[in-house]
Amino acid sequence: MKIFLDTANIEEIRNGVATGTVSGVTTNPSIISKENKTFRKCIDDIMAVDTELTVLAEVIAEDKDGMIEEALNLSRISDNIVVKIPITVEGLAAIKVLSRKRIQTTATLIFSLNQAIAASCAGADYVAPFVGRLDDINADGLGLIKLIKKTFAIQNMKTRIIAASLRSPQAVAELFSEGCDIVTMPGKILYAMLKHPLTNAGLKKFNEDWQKVPNE
Ligand code: E4P
Repeated sequence: MKIFLDTANIEEIRNGVATGTVSGVTTNPSIISKENKTFRKCIDDIMAVDTELTVLAEVIAEDKDGMIEEALNLSRISDNIVVKIPITVEGLAAIKVLSRKRIQTTATLIFSLNQAIAASCAGADYVAPFVGRLDDINADGLGLIKLIKKTFAIQNMKTRIIAASLRSPQAVAELFSEGCDIVTMPGKILYAMLKHPLTNAGLKKFNEDWQKVPNE
């Protein structure tokens, strides 16, 4: 069970890592575009926060050879890079080649069980179903995760599931309890996950009561 942050914002990543709960960072072209710096600088800055972080970086090319070339360049930056490849026919072909070269891949933009099956058969290490974007259109994001998990287990597939596109802290608990290996989320969902009013009230009471304990 691993928590990743879905952002390229260094302050958000630094603060998230400081909670001790975060072991990876996911990016995509939209996330990178918010940072006003080059793709390479974004990736380098993320890895400088914590060299142990797993970092997911997405290819831009749409053809197999272009994807492979970008993936190889990204993988040379660090062993901790996992290359995100969109789930297209060209993407599947690239995943196959990269898996033979032992380059770690995540098939991204997964919206159906069949897409997850195809990615796994091509050799993807991870699939990233976009739970929130399905929920946004009144489809069942959590239901898709359950189906993928069940199918991979029945078929004994090693591909792991990164639930992406999170919209609420409740979804995190549901996704992990249904067997998601990794959930990636924005920093605000991570903090919302950690909070509980009874924890705050309990801590306040402990502090008040501690004042009544005589000094040594
Ligand atoms: C994962 O990295 C995905 O690209 C990301 O979670 C998508 O999130 P969004 O649907 O909020 O854009």
